[in-house]
Amino acid sequence: MEESLIKAAILAAQNSYSPYSNFTVGSALLAENGKIYLGCNIENGAYTPSNCAERTAFFKAISEGVTKFKAIAIVGGHDKNFDDFCSPCGVCRQVMSEFCSKDFEIILGKKDLSYKKYTLEELLPHSFELED
Ligand code: THU
Repeated sequence: MEESLIKAAILAAQNSYSPYSNFTVGSALLAENGKIYLGCNIENGAYTPSNCAERTAFFKAISEGVTKFKAIAIVGGHDKNFDDFCSPCGVCRQVMSEFCSKDFEIILGKKDLSYKKYTLEELLPHSFELED
């Protein structure tokens, strides 16, 4: 499961629009219904409208009525070089916490398909919750 999601994230990264940072990110979000949503980072000349790869995948799924998720794989690196792990930013972690349980899996992958896996609880402890 992990390796195939990482391969999908590498595929997704090919569509990254990142002419300003040259930092290419891809994600593959596995929904509970088994569907996989791909995302890439999409930058903008005005900078702030840029979107991360993780949120692109989440927003694609949610806009199609899919709101329950199991795992996301993320790859990222300069000039499509996925030699190091790329960890999700704080904003993306907060978006994950809106829709995912604490045991949602976050898989950080490299091009050799090695990975590190965390739960959302590990990457965003003591988060601001809907109940708050
Ligand atoms: N980026 C992502 O897409 N996801 C992350 O988790 C970290 C950062 C993007 C945003 C921007 O397009 C580029 O990487 C450099 O920050």
